[in-house]
Amino acid sequence: MFVNQSKLPHLLLPEHYSSQSQHEVELETMFRPQWHWVGSLHDAPDDGDFFTRELFGVPILVRNHQGAYHCFLNVCPHRHSTLSNERCGSSPTLKCQYHGWEFNVDGSSGRIPDAKNFRPMSGGPECLKKFSVSVHGPLIFVSLHQSCPPLTDQFKPFATVTEEFSGDRWAHAETWHYDFPANWKVVAENTVESYHLESVHTDSFRFEPEDEIEHEIHDGGTIMRATIHASPNAMRFSRWVTSQLHPDCSPRYRMYHLFPHLFLMRADAMLQAMVLMPTSPITCRATVSVFVLRREQETAWSKWLTRFWGRIKTSAVKKILAEDASLYPGIQMGMEHSPFKGCVSAREELVHALQNHVAEKCGLQAGRDVLPEDCRREMSS
Ligand code: FES
Ligand SMILES: [Fe+2]
Repeated sequence: MFVNQSKLPHLLLPEHYSSQSQHEVELETMFRPQWHWVGSLHDAPDDGDFFTRELFGVPILVRNHQGAYHCFLNVCPHRHSTLSNERCGSSPTLKCQYHGWEFNVDGSSGRIPDAKNFRPMSGGPECLKKFSVSVHGPLIFVSLHQSCPPLTDQFKPFATVTEEFSGDRWAHAETWHYDFPANWKVVAENTVESYHLESVHTDSFRFEPEDEIEHEIHDGGTIMRATIHASPNAMRFSRWVTSQLHPDCSPRYRMYHLFPHLFLMRADAMLQAMVLMPTSPITCRATVSVFVLRREQETAWSKWLTRFWGRIKTSAVKKILAEDASLYPGIQMGMEHSPFKGCVSAREELVHALQNHVAEKCGLQAGRDVLPEDCRREMSS
């Protein structure tokens, strides 16, 4: 059931969904200091494999070194070139693409072509800059801030979803992106509430009656558990497929929202991950991956079944996300012209929990103070 039994105030003002100053405060206080999901084990599965990304304009390179993942600023200390421009690749050594300087796993320099021409270099060449890496299930996270507390300290229940199966039990089905014309909170709030399912996802995604839905609200994130509504035949088929991949896969839907921007969804033999990155006050980029369990003792048949279920689940997720995406331009336009204070039902309490987190992180007490008197009374009662 729900944590709250009555309606809640809409803590954020419409302008918080389009303001440049709010966007900058969110980047500074909520996003840059966070762990970011940047890739998955399949992006660099073998020793020497690497992939490159950009995090808030910072170029990074993540490399598999004998099964462990290391992240470096993708900039060479020689003459500042990126080490690699490839989105992913493999090389026996970590080597700059420009003049071929090589680097060790700790970032120190290794072989330097024609090194004698650099003498004397007091203290030796500078090291590559390293960032923290944390691997959970099949997901690789990077933090640009050395002092970022462990992910599982921020939101302990997060561990229950990533530790349920080891990373290598998850087969990657597909990763794709959306550039949404809406503030990231519009997408995040839509993702965590089930109130819109009946009207927006009539044929694609519905839950069993409301009293089957459970919410948990923690300091670092929220959890929703629900039973997906499906026809008896679809349920039988899904149970049969998933029992072939793991004996007791729960069909129950579980969504873990790690504040502010990471969403992990689990149901039957599927894991879905989604991260939202603000790209401006009124746009954001979503990256979505779907993974499906491999059978512990794989056979040709079970591999086929894993791939088959991956295609089924990916196409279901894409349909649902496309239905949501069709709403975002209208919600964003509404936010930019709304004279209303808004309100949130008990069923939408995870929206309220996110708004509360944003308000606290961004010091929006002033924002709450400008709410109408009745809302302020509700908040303090
Ligand atoms: S810039 Fe990297 S080796 Fe020269
Ligand atoms: Fe939706």
